Amino acid sequence: MRFYKIIIGDSRDMKEVESSSVHLAVTSPPYWHLDVFSKPGEEGWDRDLSRIERKEDFFRELGKVWKEVERVLVPGGVLVVEWEDYPPGSRIYGYIREICLCGDMVASVEKAGLYLISRWIWRKFNSGTAINKFQYTTYGNLRQNVPRAIANWAYVFAFQKRCYESKERELDFTREEWKAWSDGVWYIESKSSGAGEYISGGAVFPVELVKRIIRIYTVPGQVVLDPFLGTGTTMLAAFQLGRSCIGYEVLPRMLPIIKAKVKYGSQSLEEPIKWEIIRR
Ligand SMILES: C[S@@+](CC[C@H](N)C(=O)[O-])C[C@H]1O[C@@H](n2cnc3c(N)ncnc32)[C@H](O)[C@@H]1O
Repeated sequence: MRFYKIIIGDSRDMKEVESSSVHLAVTSPPYWHLDVFSKPGEEGWDRDLSRIERKEDFFRELGKVWKEVERVLVPGGVLVVEWEDYPPGSRIYGYIREICLCGDMVASVEKAGLYLISRWIWRKFNSGTAINKFQYTTYGNLRQNVPRAIANWAYVFAFQKRCYESKERELDFTREEWKAWSDGVWYIESKSSGAGEYISGGAVFPVELVKRIIRIYTVPGQVVLDPFLGTGTTMLAAFQLGRSCIGYEVLPRMLPIIKAKVKYGSQSLEEPIKWEIIRR
């Protein structure tokens, strides 16, 4: 039976998920205090990883989530992380300096026992937010400013859990689709689909991006996990593609947004669907 489980809780402990039961985890993690999601004192704020002040502490705590992901993935299961470097480093240093974070991210996941198998660049075309943020890179301003590229792309890293037997897998995409998707650069529009979706820093990822990842790494009926559910994009994508989904979100305030986005409680004529909310 297809199921959708929203867990309002901290994904550093995913006790609600059985070991070796998830085929794909896909997520866009928070950043340490560069972009804070919670308001001081609101429910869940003390467990929000974006509140962590030091980069080293952040990656240590994030590593606990990856350890849990490693436990719940089936052998051969995949974790996909959408992740960016941090261009406005001047907020921290007081002078122009980009912060490169991809190495820290890959190291934190590999330390948990998953290994990198693929990398894509997601080119966010029509990315108005990024372009507005970096207006000062326009030609007229270059005499006063350091020329810099616009931050209109992100990494999509795929990691795998070791599988010792080789088995043939089914595919849920065509030869033509793979011809386009095996290209290392994906052009996917980066815009949220409506009101209430803005969390902080425009961190919602497009459903098209998640759907592509889900179709590449799973087949219908399999289980997808998002340890940082946010507005629920991964669950929406999984639902639309006939996969089950489990999502963790630490801030209870996000629950109505998630429920509206995934149309919580929807049923299908073909098969029964089980919906569940767990509040820790
Ligand atoms: C970048 S956002 C995810 C956005 C999501 N991809 C979407 O499309 O809506 C990261 C989310 O992680 C949540 N979060 C932070 N710390 C957490 C934790 N320890 N456990 C679970 N969720 C957490 C934040 O509240 C935020 O909603």
